[in-house]
Amino acid sequence: MQNPDKKDKNTFHIAVIMDGNGRWAQKRGLPITAGHKQGAEAARRIVKAAADEGVDYLTLFGFSAENWNRPESEVQELMKLLRYYLRSETADLHKNGARLRVIGNRTALESDIVELIENAEKLTADNEKITVVIALNYGGRQEILQAAKAAAEIMAKDDATDFEQAFTANMMTHDIPDPDMIIRTSGEKRISNFLLWQSAYSEMVFSDVLWPDFKAEDLKAAIAEYGARERRFGALKTTEA
Ligand code: IPE
Ligand code: IPE
Ligand code: MG
Repeated sequence: MQNPDKKDKNTFHIAVIMDGNGRWAQKRGLPITAGHKQGAEAARRIVKAAADEGVDYLTLFGFSAENWNRPESEVQELMKLLRYYLRSETADLHKNGARLRVIGNRTALESDIVELIENAEKLTADNEKITVVIALNYGGRQEILQAAKAAAEIMAKDDATDFEQAFTANMMTHDIPDPDMIIRTSGEKRISNFLLWQSAYSEMVFSDVLWPDFKAEDLKAAIAEYGARERRFGALKTTEA
């Protein structure tokens, strides 16, 4: 997509903190799992909408490294939904030219889920319409720490000299451009350990819409808001041609 940013950049990456499933359910007197189920529907809808808008990368925060602190029953329900999503969506994603990537520490996930992820990544690896990145058991600090540890080991062993190169090569997102915009739904205004390193110059867009209600037009509104921002990257204000 032509990045709505004034700068001539040829990829557009939107990352989303999908928040508000619990409050959506609570408002309706439904169990929280009903909120997560509608949240998964919203994810399906927004993947399609983003592809239609010509977005190149869409990253979805599905489960944080801290979400294990929720009740066991809720965690299990989220894992069940994840299984269901991976089983039912992979073929469709592939058909629609989407490449699926998962970031986060997958060693803590159950082995059948890891297998579903690996199969989906393999099947869709060569697709080019959109890259859908799902962050699962993901934490920004954890990612930075593991990359720093890996880089330190490389420096010690291989007589390497470029720490920054070793570090960035070990970030899970090493081959994914930084997000241009991070959307957080449900009115919360915090980053919650999401893409800490990568968000250095991301435009933050906050929406009051609860994630299960988030629609294509809300995505379009966020893109319009992004388009009206001026990104400076620490430089002087740019004068438009
Ligand atoms: C976001 O919805 C989904 C996950 C964190 C997995 P929440 O469950 O956090 O919803 P609220 O914030 O309680 O409304
Ligand atoms: C962030 O939402 C994690 C995901 C959207 C997966 P949370 O609801 O877990 O964040 P906090 O706890 O309100 O910061
Ligand atoms: Mg929340």
